[in-house]
Amino acid sequence: MKILLTGGAGFIATHTCVELMEAGHEAVIVDNYVNSQPEAVRRVEEIVGRPVKTYEADVCDKDAMNRIFDENEFDAVIHFAGLKAVGESVSIPLRYYRNNLDSTLTLCEVMAAHGCKRLVFSSSATVYGVPDEVPLREDMFCKGCTNPYGWTKYMIEKILMSVVTADPSWSVVLLRYFNPIGAHASGRIGEDPTGIPNNLMPYITKVAAGQLEKLTVMGNDYHTHDGTGVRDYIHVVDLAKGHVKACDYAAAHQGCEIINLGTGVGYSVLDIVHAFNKANGLNIPYVIGPRRPGDVDACFADPRKAKELLGWEATKTLEDMCRDSWNWQRNNPKGYHS
Ligand code: UD1
Repeated sequence: MKILLTGGAGFIATHTCVELMEAGHEAVIVDNYVNSQPEAVRRVEEIVGRPVKTYEADVCDKDAMNRIFDENEFDAVIHFAGLKAVGESVSIPLRYYRNNLDSTLTLCEVMAAHGCKRLVFSSSATVYGVPDEVPLREDMFCKGCTNPYGWTKYMIEKILMSVVTADPSWSVVLLRYFNPIGAHASGRIGEDPTGIPNNLMPYITKVAAGQLEKLTVMGNDYHTHDGTGVRDYIHVVDLAKGHVKACDYAAAHQGCEIINLGTGVGYSVLDIVHAFNKANGLNIPYVIGPRRPGDVDACFADPRKAKELLGWEATKTLEDMCRDSWNWQRNNPKGYHS
């Protein structure tokens, strides 16, 4: 299949691009590099040994998107593009709503006008909000999100469901990601956050590299086995392979499916610190600090639907995730600017 990846230069998208191409698909990237680097695409080309057709454009720019669709006949689109920093979304909500919703609306209009009706969307477990129970199943009622970023994912899910209701010949897969970490085994592509990382694993790897002094464990009074927050960490290469399966599924079915991409196993913050130390022979200094607003006790997937519908399940271990995260950081101390 010929597949367009919006936001194709990002962390999850670059790993997906590699897996798609290695599975024999043709991937085309559109990215405005607002939060990514052209170097990331160059590294993908290096890994797969082939050029990747890339457009520098904003998905909100309808003329540019029309031109891209005029020049290519896409079998499917994976929509990764979007602003994604939770804290920033609280301070500049309108930018988040405008960008994430507008880009999706523009994309769907351009797709419909060009007769391309297969779409895989990067949603997030954040749409489950504060869960009543875990593991999280796709059919659970989502009571509401804790920040504007999460609401954009929630609203986009609703928009795409409405598109399918109005025209059931569309095929939409809403992938709810849990916590992607790790990096490609080559150490050539990985997560490259700007500034001080908000997320746990990039923070740990920067402490390991000596770029940050110590980790603050945000809260140790949660209702979990050691008091620290529990999440479902998934290796980004497993996650990427889930996208390849989702594209296959979209090609063979019509309608809309919500699918969790997680491992089904929850690890606490301290579990991660200990696993990281063990896998890499390091000793990450940490202190216990206050809770971060909006954080929940535990969030992990029921991954059965992905297995049933896509024939996909995560195979990499926490050790793999810790080793590959550090391998990427160690080899690229300044990310793609190294
Ligand atoms: C966060 C976002 C989620 C987004 C996801 C993307 C929030 C509330 N949620 O998920 O919407 O989809 O990132 O990957 O921000 N922690 C520390 N110290 C740190 C950083 C994190 O103790 O310096 C803890 C957190 O309290 C949490 C766990 O580590 O218990 C994971 O945090 P993080 O990596 O930020 O992911 P989430 O909060 O689960």
